[in-house]
Amino acid sequence: MLVAPSLLSADFGNLERDVKRVCENGADLVHIDVMDGHFVPNLTIGPPVVEAIAKSSTKPLDIHLMVENNTFFVELFAKYSPKYISFHVEEEKHPHRLIQKIKEFGIGSAIALNPHTRIEEIEYLLPDLDMVLIMSVNPGFGGQKFIPNVVPKIEKLRNLIERLGTETLIEVDGGVSDKNIDILKQAGVDIVVAGSYIFKHSNIREAIESLK
Ligand code: DX5
Ligand code: ZN
Repeated sequence: MLVAPSLLSADFGNLERDVKRVCENGADLVHIDVMDGHFVPNLTIGPPVVEAIAKSSTKPLDIHLMVENNTFFVELFAKYSPKYISFHVEEEKHPHRLIQKIKEFGIGSAIALNPHTRIEEIEYLLPDLDMVLIMSVNPGFGGQKFIPNVVPKIEKLRNLIERLGTETLIEVDGGVSDKNIDILKQAGVDIVVAGSYIFKHSNIREAIESLK
């Protein structure tokens, strides 16, 4: 299992320290939650902060857009060369076009699905996608409770990926901890995002290790 700590639960007054801390203690990716106050009722990390994170991170960046104007933000963040950019299908009129744009920048393209959004919405896009991000909380905040009803959806996606023979990775984001990691692994998840579980743990290395 790959682990992407979400910086939303980091200490923003000591962001460089916390980025280094996760990078040095087993993180595979560094997850950045970009929220615009419109798509979700929260406002978080913008370009200058992403630039600072990119400078201090030794691990690839995983940018999760929770915004209304996806194309604008993709163009803004492409220069930090993240490994993945994910955008929400609920907020994009032309997902296929945006996937191609992300790929043209040499970035892995990913689509995020809210808990209520069905896999069928993105089935036709799977051959073009590097990753699908399944939200296991309603997007907007860290520290929320995992929604177990999304597990059958993850299993369905895993079966579909296998049937189509695509290389698409499955990432799960929201309320992930040592309590649900076994279920997620069984369901076929490749990458977990975890914020509060990792940053509230007394030992970051142990927290990341417990998810791996
Ligand atoms: C929520 C964000 C998540 C969040 C995860 O909208 O996308 O990445 O930070 O935090 P935890 O692990 O605390 O649920
Ligand atoms: Zn996220």
